[in-house]
Parts: sequence; structure tokens; C-alpha cells
Amino acid sequence: MIFHQHYSLKPHNSFGLEVFAEQFVSISSEEELREVFRSKQSATPVFVLGGGSNVLFTQNVQGLVCKIALKGTRVVRETAETLELECAAGEVWDDIVRYAVAQNWGGIENLSLIPGSIGAAPVQNIGAYGVELKDVLVSVQGMMRDTGEMHTLTQEECAFGYRDSIFKRELKNKCVITSVTMRLRKNPTANDLHTSYGAIREELTKLFPETPHESYTVHHVSEAVRSIRRSKLPDPAVLGNAGSFFKNPEVSREVYERLYAEYPAMPVFMLDSGLVKIPAAWLIEQTGWKGRRDGDAGMHTQQALVLVNYGKATGQDLVRLSERVRADVFAKFSLQLETEVNIL
Ligand code: EPU
Repeated sequence: MIFHQHYSLKPHNSFGLEVFAEQFVSISSEEELREVFRSKQSATPVFVLGGGSNVLFTQNVQGLVCKIALKGTRVVRETAETLELECAAGEVWDDIVRYAVAQNWGGIENLSLIPGSIGAAPVQNIGAYGVELKDVLVSVQGMMRDTGEMHTLTQEECAFGYRDSIFKRELKNKCVITSVTMRLRKNPTANDLHTSYGAIREELTKLFPETPHESYTVHHVSEAVRSIRRSKLPDPAVLGNAGSFFKNPEVSREVYERLYAEYPAMPVFMLDSGLVKIPAAWLIEQTGWKGRRDGDAGMHTQQALVLVNYGKATGQDLVRLSERVRADVFAKFSLQLETEVNIL
């Protein structure tokens, strides 16, 4: 293991911010990870980093940044219809999606092109186009920081919610995810695919006009999702960003009715819980922030929910802009937006 001093995190965060870690280490085995926690236990704070696609650094990191570079995938169980794939935390999420799609394994094709690592995926229960990680997740394996012991959490134990899990709550800074096991469907039929959400069906028809609906495969869905995402979401390699910056607020029926009376054009999603989800992108767009910028910090032109770094913005510039957006949404709608991205 090499411990680097004053190490640039620019290549390790999707906003492309130039901040430095006091110390940096990349670990590629469980033993190395255990050793890091054994040696750094009390004195040095250890910040565990995955793909760096959901973090906004506002300052240099005091202490040790530990990059999880555990690699490998294996099928751990198999039936005639399904298989369970265990993926190490350091694998790139979309590499696994591509691999699954190439094998014609179904379940994660709607989650194509989401940036980040496997290990970060359960923390916020990544989701897109009608599917969330929790729908396919079997278990999460992790190491307890204080003892170095390995633990397996079942899907239920992960307490998943909308962009939420036990890893953001009780196990925050306590457990480091080392691998994730997902149940995928072998040779799914068109009925197993999730194509009803949003623009997917439209995109499928546009991209594959000759293909009848009943012949769609995971490959078609994955391509449709990739195409929609590319048209709306900026590529972090070109324009620094961390996807949706805020969560979509979930409000009570009363709040919804108050807003609806004033804004009948407001798009909403009725949830089974009785709450109503309002797209934060719409709220932001109504305040005039879509495509607006202040210096090099701005809200994306194609998707108002994505905070972007046009080049030279600092973490503090980005936070300041996000606070202005939040204040304007509150002034207009009396709704508090909650950030989805971790601000450090
Ligand atoms: N809308 C606007 N203006 C915009 C963009 C969208 O008014 O600039 C409205 C439209 O009515 C649209 C609705 O907002 O129908 C929803 O927009 P979209 O389908 O783009 O999805 P989102 O709610 O903004 C969520 C996730 C995304 C995920 C998409 C697709 C959150 C916080 N974000 O965004 O996830 O890709 O749905 O399922 O839930 C991420 O978490 O980083 C992320 C990109």
C-alpha cells in the first residue's frame, strides 16, 4: 500500500474540483482495508471514497482518503431462471450493467450509464426509469471499521428508501461496503422489462422502429436509457457534475393541494405511501434557474436539477449557487429542497 501525501482529488470527483487529501491510499484487498483501519484507528479521520460521483468537496480533506479499488465479479448462486452476481465494491457500476446486458441478464438495464462505483450504489439506493437497486439487491457485504469484521446485510436490513439506506443513517461512517450481490434474470422476456416509465417507450420506438414490442430485450432498453440520459445529463468527463443535486420532494396531500390550486400544470407522481412526489427540476425551472449560471457554477441547460461546474468553479461557489436555488424555490413554493449529493 502506498500512502500519498497532499494528493490531488481532481481525478477522483466528478465535479472536477481541485482539492487535496492530506493523505491518500488506494486499497485493493480486504486485508489492506482492515490494515488501514487498524493503523489509523483513533488519530486520523478516514474518508472512504468510491467513484466520487456523488460528492462535492468544499475544502481540502484533513486525514486519509481511502479509495476502494476492490475488483472482481462472480456468480454465487444459480437457478434455471436467475443467478446471483456478487460484484466487488470498486467495480464501475456501468461496467457491470454492460456486462449483464451483454450476457442477456435482466434487472439493471434501466440503471445504465449511472456514474459511480458498485460500492456506492446501495448507499443512496440508486434509481432511474422506474427501477431502483433495491429491486434486484440480495445482500451487501461490508467491513466494520472498528473491528475489521465482515458483515452481510440482507435487502431488508439495508432499510432502503428513496435515495436512502442504513448506510446513510445507523451505519454511516461505521461500515465500508466491500461487495454487493444482485439477483438477475437469465434470458428475460419482453414482459420482464420495465418500459412504461417516462420516455422509455417513445425512445425505444424511435431507436428501433422495426422491432416489435414483444421482441425487446435488455439490450434495447439499455440503449434507450443511454440515449435519454445522453440527451439530458451532462457527461462528467466534459462538464463537471454529480447528477441530480437535490432529491425530488415528497409532500403530503394537503401541501400538494395547496400547490396544485396555484400551479395546475405542476407535474406530480402519486406514491403508494399516499405522499406526492414533485419533480425538483420543475420547481427549479419555475424559478428561472434552468440554464442560468453565476460565473462557472450553474444549473444545467437540459436538466434543471443538475448543478454543473463550467470549469473554474470552486466547491464553495457551487454550494453558494445551490443555496440561492434552494432559497428561490422556498420563496416561491414554501418547499425545502434536500441535497442528494454529499457536501464535504
Ligand atoms: N422537468 C422539468 N424541467 C427540467 C427537467 C425535468 O420541469 O429541466 C420535469 C418534467 O416534468 C419531467 C420531470 O421533471 O417529467 C422529471 O424529470 P426526469 O425524468 O428528468 O427525472 P428527475 O425526477 O429530474 C430522477 C432521478 C434521476 C433519474 C431520473 C430518471 C432523483 C433525484 N433523480 O430525476 O437520477 O435519472 O429520475 O428516472 O430522483 C441522480 O440521482 O443523480 C439521477 C440523475
